[in-house]
Amino acid sequence: MPAQRNKTEDDITAEVLQRFAETPDPRLRQIMLGLVKHLHTFVKEVELTEAEWFQAIEILTEAGRMCSDKRQEFILFSDTLGVSMVVDLISHRKPDGATESTVFGPFHRLGAPELPAGGNIAHLDTTGTPTLVSGRVLDLEGKPIKNALLDVWQAQSSGLYDSQDANLDRLHMRGKFRTDAEGRYLVRTVRPVNYPIPSDGPVGRMLRATGRHPWRPAHIHFVISAEGYEPVTTHIFDRTDEYLGSDAVFAVKDSLVCDFVRHESLTGEATALGISPPFLTADFDFHLKPASERGATVLDAQQRLAALGAAG
Ligand code: BEZ
Ligand code: FE
Repeated sequence: MPAQRNKTEDDITAEVLQRFAETPDPRLRQIMLGLVKHLHTFVKEVELTEAEWFQAIEILTEAGRMCSDKRQEFILFSDTLGVSMVVDLISHRKPDGATESTVFGPFHRLGAPELPAGGNIAHLDTTGTPTLVSGRVLDLEGKPIKNALLDVWQAQSSGLYDSQDANLDRLHMRGKFRTDAEGRYLVRTVRPVNYPIPSDGPVGRMLRATGRHPWRPAHIHFVISAEGYEPVTTHIFDRTDEYLGSDAVFAVKDSLVCDFVRHESLTGEATALGISPPFLTADFDFHLKPASERGATVLDAQQRLAALGAAG
């Protein structure tokens, strides 16, 4: 049948769908057909004007220009639109006793130093309250996983990540820790604070234009991996934070909320690490499930994305 040249809006949609219909890879075919169908429906439903279409292209161009090894504006869009959490929830539908995951966020960086148990990721932070985060990495039966890797990152007590801080030209508040034979880990840091997500780009403009606040509840980021287990990308959140119910990126899950306990007098561990009161402790165990299949993991994808930013 010759291609029809006088087209309606719906003819165009049908023709585009037809062009993708022969995509050899079935999963790619499903994704492309779904994408075209919903994108066209959206454009028709809101009756997108040409000016708005150009504005959208401008916004995406600006988002792309902002991306680097220190900034990922597209992840920020995905997070603030709730897409990251929908993907997360689809990927982890069944509660199975494993630690729940949450957003990766735009502030992970490659090259965090590997530190011994009790190593201080906050060595340049002079204003935060010293905090010891400890616990175990366990399997679903509660058996310790030794030599698990915990990649940890956090905002400084100023509320800024190292990459946002004009006074810092190196990595800070980042470290990699290994579990011991009992699956134990120990991270020294400062109390996490709540902070506004970056608002100097198109995502910030979107939040302001729609009357949304940019705040995230206080948290510490972890990616935990171990040979033979599925890695988990997660946070622990401070139970007392006022933004737990309205996180700008929808990332709070009850199971990830944790007590940060204040100590006014010394403990053995604090003494050994040279920490004087007041200080805080948080105790959190992570549970990993066995790896389901070999091949590309979310960790590979995260590394590729980081490398892309670093090359820019
Ligand atoms: C973060 O926690 O680092 C983060 C996550 C999502 C968006 C912005 C920041
Ligand atoms: Fe964060």
